[in-house]
Amino acid sequence: MPKVVIIGAGSVGTTLAYTLQITGVATELVLIDSNHELAEGQVMDMNHGLPFVPPVHILAGEYPDCKGADVIVLTAGARMKPGETRLDLVDRNAQIAKRIMDSITPHTREALILVVTNPVDIMTYVAVKHSGLPPRQVIGSGTVLDSARFRYLLGRHCTIDTHNVHAYVIGEHGDGEVLLWSQVRMAGTSLELFCKHCTDRCVSVDKTAITEAVKNSAYHIIEAKGSTNYGVALAVTKIVEAVIRDENSVLTVSMMLNGAYGINGCCLSVPCIVNKKGVSRIVEAELDHTERNELNQSAEVLKNICRGII
Ligand SMILES: NC(=O)c1ccc[n+]([C@@H]2O[C@H](COP(=O)([O-])OP(=O)(O)OC[C@H]3O[C@@H](n4cnc5c(N)ncnc54)[C@H](O)[C@@H]3O)[C@@H](O)[C@H]2O)c1
Repeated sequence: MPKVVIIGAGSVGTTLAYTLQITGVATELVLIDSNHELAEGQVMDMNHGLPFVPPVHILAGEYPDCKGADVIVLTAGARMKPGETRLDLVDRNAQIAKRIMDSITPHTREALILVVTNPVDIMTYVAVKHSGLPPRQVIGSGTVLDSARFRYLLGRHCTIDTHNVHAYVIGEHGDGEVLLWSQVRMAGTSLELFCKHCTDRCVSVDKTAITEAVKNSAYHIIEAKGSTNYGVALAVTKIVEAVIRDENSVLTVSMMLNGAYGINGCCLSVPCIVNKKGVSRIVEAELDHTERNELNQSAEVLKNICRGII
């Protein structure tokens, strides 16, 4: 009986609840929000769609409902306004994340905690440190969405199904993220080889333009519609599925690093094998010199912020 609790019934939390409802991965879904009436309204709306989806019990709950959850997703907190970066949210959301972890842990210490609230790497760090739970059990959605954006843009440029594109974004979910161009594989071949044999008369891949487009995606969407919700909800649904179905999927989730990639004491994204235990293993990808330097810089930025928080 897979049970998922979502804390924060705003735009991201409810879109996630909706995608989980449609996919049928959970049989019990609980929405918790400091605005309980909002959570109740969202649940009532979703329940009216029950005749059309796999059976699922959806309710607006309170923290004791975290008991027995397989996954608890944190989406509560402030979001970026136009002109803000994710790191501008640190102070406001760190206090919220601490209070939420204090509210969850009396009811369960077994559930996988999945942080989505931004800045997600810092909030994952706060959740690990403040709860004292094992780092493999407290992960962030990290750059799973950014990796999807990268794959989408490569697939669109090369006219190939994104499912056949392997491409990862690692590091901070934010301005310091690192696109692993050296590791891109299109249907098992390198990007260079794939493009060399291409018969379309397309211009060659503009790596700078794609890198900028991936990094600035959220800013463009927020300028246009105020917030992002669909892409992130599907990315988080994939992570929840990997946990509940014990998939061993390789996903660039954010987690506390203790030596992997030569980095210690901060949370950031690297390719991880995700299953019912959370992260079962970190995959050490081969990085070129520039990528390694960028990853180290990304880690330093995050470590400096974390020093002032806990
Ligand atoms: N990691 C990612 O890839 C990603 C992508 C998009 C958004 N986000 C982040 O997700 C967060 C939520 O974004 P949103 O657009 O849903 O915002 P939103 O304003 O629509 O919803 C936030 C909800 O949190 C609730 N809330 C606030 N404090 C709470 C508390 N202490 N306990 C319980 N509920 C509380 C609010 O009542 C509100 O309903 C933001 O931090 C945003 O930046 C992350």
